[in-house]
Amino acid sequence: MRKQFIKNIKGLLQVGEDLPDVLRKEQMQTLATIDNAFLALEDNEVVAYGPMDEWPGITDWRDVEVIDASNCYVLPAFIDSHTHTVFAASREEEFVDRIKGLSYEEIAAKGGGILNSAKKLNALSEDALYEAAAARIEKIIACGTGALEIKSGYGLCTEGELKMLRVIKRLKASSKIAIKATFLGAHALPTEFKANRAAYIDLLIHEMLPLIAKEELADYIDVFCERNYFSTEEMERILDAGAIYGLKPKVHVNQFSVLGGVPAAISKGAISVDHLEELDQHDIAALANSTCVATLLPGCSHFLSIPYGAATSLIDAGAIVALASDFNPGSSPSYNLMQVLSLACIKMKMTPEAAINALTINAAAAMELQETHGRIALGRKSPLILTNEMPSLAYLAYAYTENHIQRIFN
Ligand code: NIG
Ligand code: FE
Repeated sequence: MRKQFIKNIKGLLQVGEDLPDVLRKEQMQTLATIDNAFLALEDNEVVAYGPMDEWPGITDWRDVEVIDASNCYVLPAFIDSHTHTVFAASREEEFVDRIKGLSYEEIAAKGGGILNSAKKLNALSEDALYEAAAARIEKIIACGTGALEIKSGYGLCTEGELKMLRVIKRLKASSKIAIKATFLGAHALPTEFKANRAAYIDLLIHEMLPLIAKEELADYIDVFCERNYFSTEEMERILDAGAIYGLKPKVHVNQFSVLGGVPAAISKGAISVDHLEELDQHDIAALANSTCVATLLPGCSHFLSIPYGAATSLIDAGAIVALASDFNPGSSPSYNLMQVLSLACIKMKMTPEAAINALTINAAAAMELQETHGRIALGRKSPLILTNEMPSLAYLAYAYTENHIQRIFN
């Protein structure tokens, strides 16, 4: 058995036996913390913690690794509840097009964007896709991510979508961290269906979904509900079909426009609604009264130069706010949640405490992992971050290009 004893921890964060499953309003502004703490792990399971002056002592020092965490913090690894980690190739040519003045929507309209990624993915073998994604996940873990949601949506045909989801299933089996799979067949309308949208939706509902259910390839269902993509009514139809197979919704809504997707997704029992760069008062009110998590993606806002989600309005209203990377080759080529933490503070005016809550406890809820992840408690084995030395916790968000990670426990 591997025993580890971390001592002199400047702050042990998100720790306790009775932390709430989700945090709202002023709960977002504090972190359950033990200052000058110790933490004992046995094969990564938390077996004891507390203030240093209550340390029970070690009687058997054999095989114990003692780690001195003076001036360092220990916190649960961050949870990335929204990514597109399986893809065939990067898209920096579109990035250059945007520098030259084209918008994300204009690039998509001329065959770039999601359709560009779909063409490349359908040309690649399952094994090659798996190898590329597994290598990415190693880097993602090294950045402090302790659980990952991954979407399909770059296949846009039965074979391609199944290929992506089979890759995600293999990643689930081989990865050190928890992974959940989301079926996003309704990510964009393939060109060959331009004249017949209903036929693609029929294919998705009557061919893809039954096969996905048969192979147990997905945990959730997603739709890109957006102007030029899928309407609110189309989303509702697709979510109803997913529900037959027990797939709960986690959806892309309100990235560029308000189409009524937020209340519609909530009424379909969505676990989370993601993006929310554009929000109206009805959306905020609906989220305030809901158990649906509002997931904001500041990396996408930063990269596409689009508005940032109204984090403080959502928090003040009482919504459950989470943060995620949206890692994908088109709108957010970064999986670094430390960067998301800093962006949330700099651009969305979230306090460092609120942003950490949004990346741990509330993000775990957005993946239904609140029983195991996003907090430190006895008997849990979830991944942990040991930071480098730093003067205060706010430094984690403030020093936004520094590497803060000394070590990951998982
Ligand atoms: O979350 N908005 C839709 N989907 C992705 C972008 C996908 C892409 O551009 O490849 C997103 O931003
Ligand atoms: Fe996305």
